[in-house]
Amino acid sequence: MGDAPQHLTADGYLGRYESAAARDPANGPALLAGWLRSEWRPLFAELRSRRPILRTPAFTLVTRFPDVTEVLRNGDVFTVDGYASRLDPALGGPVMLTRDGTPMNWREKGLMQVMLPPEDVPRVRELVARTADRALDAAVPRGRIDAVGELFRPVCTAVCAEYFGLPVPDPAAPARWSRAIMTDVTANLAGDPEVHAASLAAGREMMDHLRRALEGRRAGGAADAGDVFARMLGTVLPGTPAWDDERILINVAGMLLGFLENAVGSMTHLVRQLLLRPEAHRAAALAAGGPDTAAFEGHFWEALRFDPFLKIITRVCVRDHVLAAGTPRETTVPAGTLVLAAVASAMFDETAVPEPGLFRPDRPPHTRLHFGHGPHACVGVHPGAAVITETVRRLLPRPGLRLLDPPDGVVARDRDVFPDRFWLGLGDESGAR
Ligand code: HEM
Repeated sequence: MGDAPQHLTADGYLGRYESAAARDPANGPALLAGWLRSEWRPLFAELRSRRPILRTPAFTLVTRFPDVTEVLRNGDVFTVDGYASRLDPALGGPVMLTRDGTPMNWREKGLMQVMLPPEDVPRVRELVARTADRALDAAVPRGRIDAVGELFRPVCTAVCAEYFGLPVPDPAAPARWSRAIMTDVTANLAGDPEVHAASLAAGREMMDHLRRALEGRRAGGAADAGDVFARMLGTVLPGTPAWDDERILINVAGMLLGFLENAVGSMTHLVRQLLLRPEAHRAAALAAGGPDTAAFEGHFWEALRFDPFLKIITRVCVRDHVLAAGTPRETTVPAGTLVLAAVASAMFDETAVPEPGLFRPDRPPHTRLHFGHGPHACVGVHPGAAVITETVRRLLPRPGLRLLDPPDGVVARDRDVFPDRFWLGLGDESGAR
């Protein structure tokens, strides 16, 4: 349903939500949660026009661009407190994503910006191009490729090993760790203890692995390896509070968690959206062959807008706050409210993104929220964006690239929101089943 046109449904989501909530207040939010997974575009279209700030007993759902960005910009009111009780125990300590405006958050965000600088982009592109071309060349004779397992994951594993400096013996392990932990942090709204326990177990396994990697590096004196891990280990900050091995490990873990599934999920969604639009695919493939990075990237970010992997960012409101003050939407959000800032909806708000139903690769960057907004905006945005755009850039111009008919052509998700398989046709039609 993610590709459905943006229209109001005949009977209306709000009407159905309100009748369900009238029967039992707990039913309404459960119904909304289901629609958020499968019918987000028409649901958000209706909410933006009829109830842009929807208060429910379980959460408040915010859908217009100025209100979503107001939530994400105001870290002192709309905090990340909700993440701390989940993520900190999994990592063994606080990380920048679970703290608002603390000295640790300030210092480590700055440090990690230095560790992941825009100057690394050419090197990341080269590594990605090499890995992606190898994977694609190997797949061409078979006439098909599982884009998740044979392209996106190998590229991300290579980035972890060569750029971050974190090789893993079992390439499936980082995906397992990050899925278990991020599901608990971002999607366990009901606080299921089993989901939390799985996250703690994954966190222990991940931190043990990273600790062994760090000991190996310290013992091997590989501080000059030129990767991000080596930079982190080689950074000494005299006279400042700790930037010790524990803080380094927690930031390395944050880097893996921030990168892996977001990159794989985003590439899957954006490639599917491009291939659903033959005109857009042709134009993007043409632009991808040229040297103008901004020009071809515009095609990719626009495709992702039609189905962002990360549709909602959650915050906890810690002080009563008048949201959208002075507008007809003005709503008081009480302290203690869980707030769902629907970035996927904001990017279809016609007051900020003109003619949102049209595929327009030349939209200005400030209309995109793929990497968040405000004080917690993605610290890995430069290498992260390079991985996504360079991988897709290598894939798109391949002759015969196409979506396959169902069931193969459907993005397979075995358990949760994370893609597991996505078969694409390559080369001559007869090669692909
Ligand atoms: C090198 C790759 C990446 C690294 C190291 C990374 C790391 C991080 C970290 C540490 C944060 C928390 C920042 C803070 O709290 O101040 C963050 C936030 C975020 N990242 Fe990334 N990330 C990467 C790639 C990506 C990708 C590919 C996407 C999706 C397209 C993405 C989307 C986001 C978003 C939406 C947030 C905001 C979360 C929020 O506000 O709650 N990141 N990232």
